[in-house]
Amino acid sequence: MKNYFITFEGGEGSGKSTQIDFLSDFLKKKGAKVLSTREPGGTPSAEIIRDLVTKGDPNKWTPLTESLLMWASRTEHVEKLIRPSLEDGKWVLCDRFYHSTYAYQGIGHNLGIEKMQAIKNIVLGDFKPDLTFVLDIDPLVGIERTKKRNSDEDRFEKMNIDFHNKLRHAFIEISKEDPHRFVLIDGELDTNSIFEIISNEVMNRFIL
Ligand code: TMP
Repeated sequence: MKNYFITFEGGEGSGKSTQIDFLSDFLKKKGAKVLSTREPGGTPSAEIIRDLVTKGDPNKWTPLTESLLMWASRTEHVEKLIRPSLEDGKWVLCDRFYHSTYAYQGIGHNLGIEKMQAIKNIVLGDFKPDLTFVLDIDPLVGIERTKKRNSDEDRFEKMNIDFHNKLRHAFIEISKEDPHRFVLIDGELDTNSIFEIISNEVMNRFIL
């Protein structure tokens, strides 16, 4: 079975990690080797950067610094974990990837997607996921869900609602630009219905 790189995107509390766990189990039952990972983070070095950006005062970094930290953690992650895992025949399921930087820093913080694309070209060249699922959710519903987690990784959740609404629209626009590579899903459906859509897409595209 050929292996693929699949990413999951969406706002806060959109249910990505649950769906990654479901898909990982589903693929493993079919005999696939699977790596589930996340951004920012995924390697010890990138997790150090994750701590810097996900905790503390929302204003502690300028938007450009914040974006560069995301790209720095991504370089570590791609070179040390994602590429080697793909070469090793593993499916890689990643909770967020560079489309989060386009949405959060490019649109949310107004740096501009073009600027983020320019950095992407330096950092990743034409490396990109084979498929991206975007879970779309009303930010008020999503943020309410994350509050129940009681995590100290709440720096972005503390940003204002306008920021989160901008992200929501950014993800929808980004999905429309490449309809073959993106699947936009209503993140307010129940988890089993969402997984049915995801597993059908993966089966139809890559396994059947
Ligand atoms: P998580 O809560 O989905 O684990 O992601 C951590 C936070 O980092 C989340 O609030 C979104 C933010 N983020 C960015 O702002 N830009 C990025 O490029 C990535 C990968 C995450």
